[in-house]
Amino acid sequence: MQNSSRNGIYLDYSATTPVAPEVFEAMQPYFTATFGNASSTHGFGRDAAAALDEAHTVVGCAIGARASEITFTGCGTESDNLALRGVAFAARKNGRGNHLISSQIEHHAVEGTVHQLHDLFGFDITMLPVDGCGRVDPADVRRAIRPDTILVSVMLGNNEVGTMQAVSEIGRVCREGGVLFHTDAVQCPAYMPIDVNELNVDLLALSSHKFYGPKGSGVLYMRDGTPYIPVLTGGGHERGRRPGTVSVANAVGTAAALKYVSGQRNEQAARLSQLRDRLIAGVLANAPDARVSGHPTDRMPHHASFVFKGIDGETLQMALDVEGIAVSTGSACTSGNPEPSPVLLAMGIPAEWALGGLRITLGYHTTQEEIDTVIATLPRCVEQVRKVALEFA
Ligand SMILES: Cc1ncc(COP(=O)(O)O)c(C=O)c1O
Repeated sequence: MQNSSRNGIYLDYSATTPVAPEVFEAMQPYFTATFGNASSTHGFGRDAAAALDEAHTVVGCAIGARASEITFTGCGTESDNLALRGVAFAARKNGRGNHLISSQIEHHAVEGTVHQLHDLFGFDITMLPVDGCGRVDPADVRRAIRPDTILVSVMLGNNEVGTMQAVSEIGRVCREGGVLFHTDAVQCPAYMPIDVNELNVDLLALSSHKFYGPKGSGVLYMRDGTPYIPVLTGGGHERGRRPGTVSVANAVGTAAALKYVSGQRNEQAARLSQLRDRLIAGVLANAPDARVSGHPTDRMPHHASFVFKGIDGETLQMALDVEGIAVSTGSACTSGNPEPSPVLLAMGIPAEWALGGLRITLGYHTTQEEIDTVIATLPRCVEQVRKVALEFA
């Protein structure tokens, strides 16, 4: 990979992406020259505030929202947490209902928040099932909505198996039911346009480091008028929704990253989906007892995921690492966990397959040569790991 301090093939773009040089360049002045606190009313502060205002506008425009609907946060996890808790707490305060709906394949940032709202705050929750491809049926959402339902949260693109959800349709169902709708769109902006109106969402989470922006930086979109109580208490930053001095550099970097991806995402999506299909075909043709996990076609263009029968995905990932190929077993946040993935189990994949999950995610710097190296190497690693597993069985 270009300019990396490590040689090797990086195919874990769903875990994180490198900051694009033009994004880095856009951010730099806000660490040093224009360092003011955007909340200060003197000239130094006003300069920072002007850049922050501009970042709100650019990010808003990039996703079909108003500047006033954009809140800069510390990461995608925080955006999900603020959305769910903020709406739930507001409903509790206003006596507006007690029921939340989500799905069994959400990222931990949503799943953990929903469960904590249940365990510690007494909210009722419904975690909707998915089909064998990891899809939530919008009809299930309709059936699950009750008079006391306040919020539905279903993700846009699944980080582990790549499946796209029918978010726009689910959003329509929520609107008809008079229920707020949140989506975690963290995995998607580098590969597809995001428009909050087309998606029919009231709240949406993004994470800058997934689209060539800085780490420690996220976005929460919240439709104007959405009942919300700030989860953090403190000053009035970000219209009181997320107290704490804002990193202007990160906000500027997020805006620059959205511009960077919007200029090339269609072209990249077409290129990457071809490479992904080549990879999938090559792996299935050469590795026995291998299957694709997730939807065969309605999946993110950069995302290939597999299950291999009778082997441990973590061991396979390490064997590939030895070969200089960086991939993951699924969600970056669950690495090191030897249990079968709950997402794969929710899709009805038997445990002996679900333990052998592997995620290979391509990015803007991925080449065909790299993909061909993986096609040549992966089946050999699968064979090695299987042989060792059988010896120790
Ligand atoms: C779908 C999804 N949501 C949320 C997150 C968390 O984002 P962050 O790393 O910015 O906290 C991730 C990270 O992998 C993700 O894939």
